[in-house]
Amino acid sequence: MKALVLSGGSGTRLRPFTYSMPKQLIPIANRPVIEHVLDGIRALGVTEVGVVVGERRPEIEAVLGDGSALGVRITYLSQQQPLGLAHAVSVAREFLGDDDFVMYLGDNMLPQGVTEIAAEFRAERPSAQVVVCKVPDPRAFGVAEVDPDGRVLRLVEKPAQPRSDLALVGVYFFTPDIHRAVAAIVPSARGELEITDAIQWLVAEGADVRAREYSGYWKDTGRVEDVLECNRELLDGITRSVRGEVDERSVLIGEVIVEESARVVNSRIEGPVVVGRGSVVENSHIGPHTAIGRDCLLSDTWVDHSIALDGATVSGVRGVHGSLIGRSAAVTSVRSKHHHRLVVGDHTQVEVAA
Ligand code: G1P
Repeated sequence: MKALVLSGGSGTRLRPFTYSMPKQLIPIANRPVIEHVLDGIRALGVTEVGVVVGERRPEIEAVLGDGSALGVRITYLSQQQPLGLAHAVSVAREFLGDDDFVMYLGDNMLPQGVTEIAAEFRAERPSAQVVVCKVPDPRAFGVAEVDPDGRVLRLVEKPAQPRSDLALVGVYFFTPDIHRAVAAIVPSARGELEITDAIQWLVAEGADVRAREYSGYWKDTGRVEDVLECNRELLDGITRSVRGEVDERSVLIGEVIVEESARVVNSRIEGPVVVGRGSVVENSHIGPHTAIGRDCLLSDTWVDHSIALDGATVSGVRGVHGSLIGRSAAVTSVRSKHHHRLVVGDHTQVEVAA
């Protein structure tokens, strides 16, 4: 079995971050989302991975390389325009050959993995096997109607009136039957070749299409709130490891990772927290649920439930909460009781305490 990871898309809901980085590289617990995705694929015993990339290819390639650091072998496949998930499958046609494959959306996080669902697919080889998850409001997703045996009766992409609460998670298992379906469908109202329509085409042809429920934690990391929530979830699974320097005036509580060459000085860190390589935390209170990237400086500050990307500075500001601070961005205090001074980029959101 091969794997296909889709890493195109413009990530408009994650602006301004996605002006300078693809959404698949946003860090969750200090690792890019797409690395978590590749871990999930590796856990299925799949090592031959095609990564479909758009114009953001150079950045993704710079981070993942040939995949060897993650135990996989990556072939990059260029999709010139984001014409849909089914279009991405057609771009990968030659790479996939006549192999079965698992298709994974590069911004979907399923930390508990889909090992059992994959094992069933491998053993029984239905034409397609989709992974579904019960959600309170499925209107933003593909929605599956499924019979009691798990056979898919109907799939609809983002229905206004969903007929079930089973959303399509961004993980799909396919035999080569999917290629006929992809060739047969036409673009949807949003102008994309939808994978949901291709699978529905198989259902209409009478093919064996199954749905299996994933009951673990699932997040499509499409928005800032999702990224922060997912970061909290993953940090809850870390274990303490202190490789950097922590001075005797500092206190670390619970699960705290201080990576090598990071320094913690006169600070209190309440886990789960990860402090990335080369970062300095001084005279501060950090955590819980905070991920600090590499080479950051946090001084005289109080930060919780937040993510700081590489090179960020937070200094002299207390009560930073639920925040996502971009690469080399600076949040500092000004010597005035009356003014805030803001240099705010396009599509940035700032909320100050009133
Ligand atoms: C895509 C699929 C949708 C699925 C979702 C999962 O939607 O088209 O069926 O439920 O991923 O994240 P998109 O993110 O392209 O809107």
